[in-house]
Amino acid sequence: MFQSLPAPAADPILHVMTMYREDPRAEKVDLGLGVYKDPQGATPVMRAVKAAEQRLVDEQDTKSYTTLSGDPAFRAAVAGLVLGDAVPATRLAGSTTTGGTAGVKLGMDLIHAASPGSTIWISTPTWPNHYALAKAAGTAFKTYRYYDAETGSIDRAGMWADLEAAQPGDVLLLHGCCHNPTGADLSAEDWAAVAAFCKAKGVMPFIDIAYQGFGDGLDEDAAGLRALAAQMARMIVVSSASKNFGLYRDRAGCCLVICPEGERALVQGTLEVLNRQSISFPPDHGARVVTEILSDPALRAQWDDELTEMRDRMNRLRRLLATALRDACGSDRFGFLADQRGMFSILGGSEAQITRLREEFGVYIVGGGRLNMAGLTEHSIPRVAKAIATVL
Ligand code: LMR
Repeated sequence: MFQSLPAPAADPILHVMTMYREDPRAEKVDLGLGVYKDPQGATPVMRAVKAAEQRLVDEQDTKSYTTLSGDPAFRAAVAGLVLGDAVPATRLAGSTTTGGTAGVKLGMDLIHAASPGSTIWISTPTWPNHYALAKAAGTAFKTYRYYDAETGSIDRAGMWADLEAAQPGDVLLLHGCCHNPTGADLSAEDWAAVAAFCKAKGVMPFIDIAYQGFGDGLDEDAAGLRALAAQMARMIVVSSASKNFGLYRDRAGCCLVICPEGERALVQGTLEVLNRQSISFPPDHGARVVTEILSDPALRAQWDDELTEMRDRMNRLRRLLATALRDACGSDRFGFLADQRGMFSILGGSEAQITRLREEFGVYIVGGGRLNMAGLTEHSIPRVAKAIATVL
């Protein structure tokens, strides 16, 4: 029976992770997988997370099931973090999810259940799993241009020209901040244009925010989606705690659905049925750690400080790499790196060049030229800049 399975397609990001792990060279540099690393190249458990986990160990008195959509206190905490006061709780349905990935899938499953004829518009480039998740959910998707590699900023003309073809009932998938892989984010004016477009066309926004706090700040990074949420009757927001809480392996995410009050119970019930058919009950540990941190002022302040340290470090590495590349190339060709935000930017380059970077210089980046800033160190930057200048 199983011999007839088609060969599984390698995930372009996880494939790089595997190759890096198998490389015995000590001087290799991992700029592939989107994981934060400190100056020592480690990804330690955040101190606020450790403290919250310790409290759970001391005080948690049951591991019995929560609800089919997880603990409502987690949803409320995440809604506050992501949406602020843009939307009243009476208009919010949602579920804890197994990381942001399952949150995106749950949102897409909901769309498919509600409106199987809808098309999801996905930026190109994007996190490659967005396409795979849409496929798995059975929703049609189309792509819109997003990035202008020449200028290192958004291709606004291309984006709006492509989105012209969207139909009422379609869905527009956007990155809340720190666009993966380009690092090029929508401005406040762009978010206003998105709101006007969605309202005029009858298109529902779907925001994937996996890097809140990695760009300019927790509130700054959510300002655009909050302004949009305040204007939309319906919208989906998926938040991940993998990166900003460092809970990668614990899989804590949240799918929030904004809808009219009269639809809330129906949406909530449908999310729970969808969960029952796949996971029954969402995982709780990571979500409970997040709730604990966000609802305790001291833990929250500690987490905020740690997150600020991580963000400042990534932005400093961006500036240092841009400067090192200017020196190595004798041009400002990579100057855009300093202005972009989040973990990622794309350098461009052919597959052959990316392979050469890896094989000859031990510098691992993802196909398409995506590089994870947090994988750099002040020590490795001169070497990486020299390799990039030589190969690209
Ligand atoms: C990434 O983009 O590298 C991360 O989000 C990890 C993943 O799951 O792809």
